[in-house]
Amino acid sequence: MDTNARREQWLGLVAAAADAAALAELDARLFGPKGEVQELVRSVTSLPKEARPAFGKAANAVKVEVEQALAARREQFARAALAQELGATDFDPTEPGPRPVRGTLHPITIVQNELVDLFTSMGFQWQDGPEVESEYFNFDALNIPGDHPARESQDTFWLREQKGLGRNLLRTHTSPVQVRTMQRLAKAGQKPPLKVIVPGRCFRSETVDKSHEHTFYQMEGLVVDRDVSTANLIHTMKTCLRVILEREVQVRLRPGFFPFVEPGFELDVNCPFCRGKGCSVCKQSGWIEILPCGMVHPNVLQQGGIDPEHYTGFAFGMGLQRVVMLRYGIDDIRQFMGGDLRFLRQFPEVAR
Ligand code: DAH
Repeated sequence: MDTNARREQWLGLVAAAADAAALAELDARLFGPKGEVQELVRSVTSLPKEARPAFGKAANAVKVEVEQALAARREQFARAALAQELGATDFDPTEPGPRPVRGTLHPITIVQNELVDLFTSMGFQWQDGPEVESEYFNFDALNIPGDHPARESQDTFWLREQKGLGRNLLRTHTSPVQVRTMQRLAKAGQKPPLKVIVPGRCFRSETVDKSHEHTFYQMEGLVVDRDVSTANLIHTMKTCLRVILEREVQVRLRPGFFPFVEPGFELDVNCPFCRGKGCSVCKQSGWIEILPCGMVHPNVLQQGGIDPEHYTGFAFGMGLQRVVMLRYGIDDIRQFMGGDLRFLRQFPEVAR
């Protein structure tokens, strides 16, 4: 068989294949189980011995050459197909891709972070406490016995009673962590000074409206040491409000009643909206009630294992939503839990 003639013929067929499908057909015809190229190579056995080496060599060379021509043509078709596909769209690989949507911090988180930074810079330590709390820590240890009217002002989510474990509830404030912290200190055999802040989530069975939420955030503060006075309390609170409201502030104290402090106060700040002149936010009074606080009641110190003869303390319980609302001028507390991204995206992403 004339290897040269077959070579010419096959290379011609490869060159003439119109598309990838035709090429695949040709591939099967030449290299399939009974393919023409294979037949040529195999036909060496029918030749006389002395003719075999030269023929075998030539046939193999043709086989390799045709194989390569097929592969090159296949590649050509693939490239053309890709170019066509790209040309058919306006896809531009040099354009920047879509930006991933980045989240922002919740405004309560922003303000809480700032407060935590501020208080830790003043030597306070961050304390956590459980959201499912016992009746003892939430009420009794805070000088609020079972029949105390103050219990009624905190509409409580009670949990189903478990035998032998007493009654549990969703904590109505962060104050229970006061006694928890003092007891931990006493157990460790340590003595005051004690300076802690307790940011955390609280729950009350409230009807939700513009200014009430069943789930809210507080930040408790507690300082116990020798000779802690109301002056220390006022100074700390003023510093805190100045930083968080980003301006010089005036404060005033009014008596406030909370069983776990004596005396107890309502601390007011001069209204940031009218600068004290009187507006609808401060109900024309020029003052905004912002921080309940007081000097820790001796009974509470005692529950915490601290001797009230030697130590005094102050405590405060800041409603974080309230502070955030004042800071950003938000007038509806429901925004915080509403999940409306348009509201949430207005707050800057802050690096920490
Ligand atoms: N726990 C109180 C509440 O949620 C707020 C409070 C008042 C906390 C006075 C204090 C305090 O630490 O001294 O209503």
